Amino acid sequence: MVTRGTTNPNRLRRVDSWIADCAGPVLRDAEDPLVVDLGYGATPVTAVELRARLARVRADVRVVGLEIDQERVAAAAPSADPPGLTFARGGFELAGLRPVVVRALNVLRQYDEAEVARAWATMTGALAPDGLVVEGTCDELGRLAAWVCLDRSGPRSLTLAARLSTLDTPATLAERLPKALIHHNVPGEPVHDLLRALDDAWRNAAPYAAFGARQRWLRAVAEVKAAGWPVLDRPARWRLGEVTVAWAAVTKFS
Ligand SMILES: C[S@@+](CC[C@H](N)C(=O)[O-])C[C@H]1O[C@@H](n2cnc3c(N)ncnc32)[C@H](O)[C@@H]1O
Repeated sequence: MVTRGTTNPNRLRRVDSWIADCAGPVLRDAEDPLVVDLGYGATPVTAVELRARLARVRADVRVVGLEIDQERVAAAAPSADPPGLTFARGGFELAGLRPVVVRALNVLRQYDEAEVARAWATMTGALAPDGLVVEGTCDELGRLAAWVCLDRSGPRSLTLAARLSTLDTPATLAERLPKALIHHNVPGEPVHDLLRALDDAWRNAAPYAAFGARQRWLRAVAEVKAAGWPVLDRPARWRLGEVTVAWAAVTKFS
């Protein structure tokens, strides 16, 4: 599905930081350090950035930007820097490649929810062993973001990430939930409960705002974790305005 292809420099910095950290071990150990950026959009700027960021993890990383739109593949050609960065036409089948990491940001949001499971299965089926797919959504400037991490057996986790200095309340992250969840943010659904728990904790942590939004967020995530939510990550990531929870906690769809 070809869309306007909206993108922006630095828009995906939060997800790239997470990939460099959480997919770092698998990228470092990979026999072939191949990464696919699926659906890079009207300009390849975020693919260029991904390559630069992951080269700090693995110097010989090869990023292949794939687009369903042939004109965008042609337009990206001047930005190629083979073998580290190339562009080609491709969709969820990943053009026959066998990458260790796939980043697909702001691609599935234009699809119907019913198409998500098949798109996920197609992408994860193309992964190298131990490979990961990171699929999600963010706002135009990357201040609010959410993504799912999947391995070959299916979805593993949901990450919510925000620029804390401009975060009003965690509930605003609802607008950026991945396609698989966005229509489930209604009372009675676990993802709604999670956002409400974060919101309540954020409110309870208001006194910590005096020490900065980061301290407030750290406190709020700690409260959510203490309440029993399966928070998978550690305070070093919370400090960046993130929280990652086990996928099973947000998907007992009614
Ligand atoms: C909104 S842009 C996202 C650009 C960039 N990933 C970002 O987040 O800034 C979505 C892009 O995905 C492409 N796209 C849509 N479906 C696709 C598919 N199945 N395979 C590859 N690209 C696809 C569209 O052509 C469009 O350029």
